[in-house]
Amino acid sequence: MHQRAAQVLHDNWTGTSTVPSHGLYPHQWSWDSAFIAIGLRHLSPLRAQIELETLLDAQWGDGRIPHIVFNPSVPLDAYFPSPDFWRSSTAGHAAGAPRTVQTSGIVQPPVHALAAWLVHLSDPGLSRARSFLPRIYPRLAAWHRYLLHRRDLGGGGLASVVHPWEQGMDNAPSWDTPLSRVTPAPAHSFRRADLDHGAAEDRPTDLDYGRYVRLAADYRDGEYRDVPGEGYGGDGDGASEFAVEDPAFNALLIASEHALARIAQELGATGTARHIRAERLTAALVDRLWDPAEGMFFCRDVRTGELIPERGVSGLIPLLLPTLPRDIAATLVRTTYGPHFGLGDSTRLVPSYDLTGDAFDPHRYWRGPAWFNTNWLLERGLRLHGEHARAEALRTELLDTADTSGFAEYVDPFTGEACGALGFSWTAALTLDLLHDVPDAEYGQLTHSAHDSKLGTGAKGGNGA
Ligand code: SER
Repeated sequence: MHQRAAQVLHDNWTGTSTVPSHGLYPHQWSWDSAFIAIGLRHLSPLRAQIELETLLDAQWGDGRIPHIVFNPSVPLDAYFPSPDFWRSSTAGHAAGAPRTVQTSGIVQPPVHALAAWLVHLSDPGLSRARSFLPRIYPRLAAWHRYLLHRRDLGGGGLASVVHPWEQGMDNAPSWDTPLSRVTPAPAHSFRRADLDHGAAEDRPTDLDYGRYVRLAADYRDGEYRDVPGEGYGGDGDGASEFAVEDPAFNALLIASEHALARIAQELGATGTARHIRAERLTAALVDRLWDPAEGMFFCRDVRTGELIPERGVSGLIPLLLPTLPRDIAATLVRTTYGPHFGLGDSTRLVPSYDLTGDAFDPHRYWRGPAWFNTNWLLERGLRLHGEHARAEALRTELLDTADTSGFAEYVDPFTGEACGALGFSWTAALTLDLLHDVPDAEYGQLTHSAHDSKLGTGAKGGNGA
């Protein structure tokens, strides 16, 4: 299995980064690269460092890490929206887009500091010899600053996403209500490239695609500004039509803030301020997105101020947080194994959406199928909170499903049948991580050892604290 997974990453390596999949996603994707680096470190810590460095080389002056870094040797029509749609070097000029490389202008979940810390741990000697952490720390710090300041659109301390692609779960039912307010771009104004590689019934609909295109074009036409009143695109009142606080996006930001604290400590600082900030963010996450009656986190629609009552896997991901209150962690575990997600009962892997929800479809993009990155995060979370037997069972299913599906992009949650692209990089990378990892020790590293918890009452992972 190790060899087969390694072969996928070998085939998808371009020399400086890894494509998620040559057909469907032929450039470098931001959160894909972070998950890929987490697996690649077991094959080549050097390649894993380069993967992250290549992405960070495309960072914008305002701190944002773009969700796609385009490979200039790939034909324009191989992927849509292509560089001539995003026009980063011109439309993104005011926001500090790089001149030498073309990128998109939106972001993806901030898994990068977590990945960087895990890559460092895999070979600290090489990392120190290459000054890996001193070189990337300021960039990662700027990235978190961007999210915490420019993207706090709700004013409650959490980061908002302004496009479903930013959160990564493009087609999740949680977006249906906020997206319904967006006027779709006319179907004839663009050509989808994704349908050349994926079955139409597994992919988002044309109507949803029209809305994705409209939101991205409006953001571009507002020169990718995030601050209201500075000519934001959309409905002209200075605010994006779509702004959502998402539990997984913010949980990954918090986990990465803990990782950044560890990186700061490695570089001689205390890291205490970052750990405290991560705990404050955890408290804000609970305050703004936790629904005790439903036993999970929900997205908040920043434009209406309301929670969006759709149960998506995103609402379980905060389980990966080390200082989550114990009762919330225990409730999330119960929800994962209950009727809405069915783990250990009707499903082999945690589905992306509520089994009982009206929109559930076991094959359609983020409306039911199971993904490997979300299940890997939950496996880590179960382990962190002492659920070792459950973590082990999920790990076994992940490995088996990844291998038998040909390292598929996603699978039917009941049967493990492959959907989307095959030979998908993060599936192979996270397989390697599950085969080779020592999670307790590593996840203990992410807990707050430098000071006593002020806000958190949560579990201590492994050898932490
Ligand atoms: N996942 C989105 C796509 O289909 C955005 O990256 O391209």
